[in-house]
Amino acid sequence: MTEPSRPSRHPLMQRIAALQDIQQYQELNWEGSFEDYLDLVRDDPRVSRNAYQRLYDMIMRFGTRTYTEYKKQIVRYKFFDDPFDDGKDAVFGIDVHLMKLVNVLKSAALGYGPEKRVILLHGPVGSAKSTIARLLKKGLEWYSRQPDGRLYTFSWVGPEGEITPAPMHEDPLKLIPLEFREEVLADINGSGRSPYPIRLEGELDPVSRFLFKQAMKDAGGDFTAVVSKIRVRRLILSEKDRLGIGTFQPKDEKNQDSTELTGDINYRKIAEYGSDSDPRAFNFDGEFCVANRGLIEFVEVLKLDVAFLYDLLGASQEHVIKPKKFAQTAIDQVILGHTNEPEYRKLQSNEFMEALRDRTIKIDVPYITKWHEEARIYAKDFNKKRVRKHIAPHTLEMAAMWAVLTRLEEPKKHNLTLLQKLKLYDGKTLPGYTEDNVKELRKGAIREGLEGISPRYVQDKISNALVRDGGDSINPFMVLNELESGLSSHSLLSDEELRKHYRDLLGVVKKEYEDIVKNEVQKAIASDEDAIARLCSNYIDNLKAYCLKERVKNSFTGSYDEPDERLLRAVEEKINIAETRKDDFRRELMSYIGGLAIDGKVFDYKANERLHKALELKLFEDQKDSIKLTSLVSQVVDKDTQARIDIVKQRLIDNFGYDDQSATDVLNYVASIFARGDAKDSA
Ligand SMILES: Nc1ncnc2c1ncn2[C@@H]1O[C@H](COP(=O)(O)OP(=O)(O)OP(=O)(O)O)[C@@H](O)[C@H]1O
Ligand SMILES: [Mg+2]
Repeated sequence: MTEPSRPSRHPLMQRIAALQDIQQYQELNWEGSFEDYLDLVRDDPRVSRNAYQRLYDMIMRFGTRTYTEYKKQIVRYKFFDDPFDDGKDAVFGIDVHLMKLVNVLKSAALGYGPEKRVILLHGPVGSAKSTIARLLKKGLEWYSRQPDGRLYTFSWVGPEGEITPAPMHEDPLKLIPLEFREEVLADINGSGRSPYPIRLEGELDPVSRFLFKQAMKDAGGDFTAVVSKIRVRRLILSEKDRLGIGTFQPKDEKNQDSTELTGDINYRKIAEYGSDSDPRAFNFDGEFCVANRGLIEFVEVLKLDVAFLYDLLGASQEHVIKPKKFAQTAIDQVILGHTNEPEYRKLQSNEFMEALRDRTIKIDVPYITKWHEEARIYAKDFNKKRVRKHIAPHTLEMAAMWAVLTRLEEPKKHNLTLLQKLKLYDGKTLPGYTEDNVKELRKGAIREGLEGISPRYVQDKISNALVRDGGDSINPFMVLNELESGLSSHSLLSDEELRKHYRDLLGVVKKEYEDIVKNEVQKAIASDEDAIARLCSNYIDNLKAYCLKERVKNSFTGSYDEPDERLLRAVEEKINIAETRKDDFRRELMSYIGGLAIDGKVFDYKANERLHKALELKLFEDQKDSIKLTSLVSQVVDKDTQARIDIVKQRLIDNFGYDDQSATDVLNYVASIFARGDAKDSA
């Protein structure tokens, strides 16, 4: 006898008890009679959806977002943000391909044909194929625990109360003999409560058929008496519990045996039941049996031995499997395979595999070719929750930039660099390039996204950089160096020329990084708003005087002076306004300011991007010398300069996400660039 439970005094136990949800537990462990189940189905026929329908509905349950790209509407399924694990398995940057996948699932849910195919995710190594499969499985497990995703199966209860679960956890409705099913289903479907007509394919599994026949005999053909021996229960899909989710991974070729897919004879039980044709002496524990009602994933499906091929073909095309010594048995599950590019190419030339090729729907899962989408992968992996060290701004972005560069094909137009192409793909605009041009660029590069460096390589190198000794932070150079030194031992890189190309691209990234930080330091130095505002009003006063051919009042001496042409030009040169164009520029700006004045508005330099930039650069130039940035390199800094430098450093920390160390590093680095004397003021 069990004692009634009494609240524990242990605080941790109390915490656990508070977290427990008894009602949910009871719902998830619901049991009832066959008739109770019929009531459930009538109320909500969705409990009897097939595996494709359930999977598709699960994805759609999380909703969608749409956006336009190259004038096409793209749907983002929020499911792919990974709502289950805090975004751990989120998939970015390949929405067009995910759309294809979801459309195939939709079509399969509606019974239009893809449900008779193997869905084959195909792409280069490390392109998120396994991630997508894992996410789908997690989604199904989760959905089966929700009220709207629930599903049921049954067990047989013997005369002495012994329980025999339906070994392939089938829907209890399958107990209805084929000859009556149509009528019952018509009744259920008549309610219009399910988005899909419920269909039940095929007969029961061999064990249930055997027990059903026996029970029929005992009951003299009374169906009601037979199903009274049934206990219906909720089915919670779980890969760990081997319920409704399966994974099949080919081992070495000699060891492949089809019983792994369809189950095997249990020799110990033959003695008990007296015959090897008694289905109760058979273990329905092959991966297809396990995965029934949910999803089976075939890892590296093309490495499958031909011996398995027929099982796979039957399972997809006919929805049946053939366990040894038993009749074909109906199954209901999504079949998802994946393979990487090299294996797929082998398939192309393998006649044996032709039958399979013909029965697959290939979904490409390429690498990301959009810089900032790639950066999201690393931001997700190395976020603040997971990493203690400070990661200097741009570190992950620069690694992502390199990864994407290695995947891009050299633009055929001569005046476009690879880096410019990357920026165009990333959504930047470049003079002379329209959206249509970018689309054309993409179309012209067929192998793009199928080659290059995998995110996995970059992930490994970033974590190497993170664990390297010393310092509380990492910066882009540490990661880029790590990426470089790994190249010589990269197992997938045998081609010396390619290796050199990848090294050169690291140089491109370093150069780009240099420009970015130079710009940031300039901004930090010049982001003294009061000083910019002063400079701006000074510029505008002189501009007005120039345009109206007037004089400017000198606030110092009170005298009226000619407009300060040197100041005007110094600002304008920062944004490359040529001497010959200066009058146009000034008149335009003047009439813009005049227009604002008519509307009673005041000119704000921040609203004019070009002028804002020019002012910032001019201010930087003025202040650069006063804070003696270059003297940083010499390490001998007077107190006054140090104070100014500290202000800039603080701005880098406050406005750009640096920490003390990385801000110092970046200031030193930029100072060294200026000391080299190759500083370009105009960026
Ligand atoms: N588009 C993407 N979005 C988010 N993460 C990605 C993407 N592509 C790759 N990754 C990340 O790269 C890593 C490798 O992905 P995964 O293991 O799914 O690749 P795979 O295609 O199965 O590779 P393989 O062919 O080697 O088995 C994972 O950490 C994954 O999160
Ligand atoms: Mg994989």
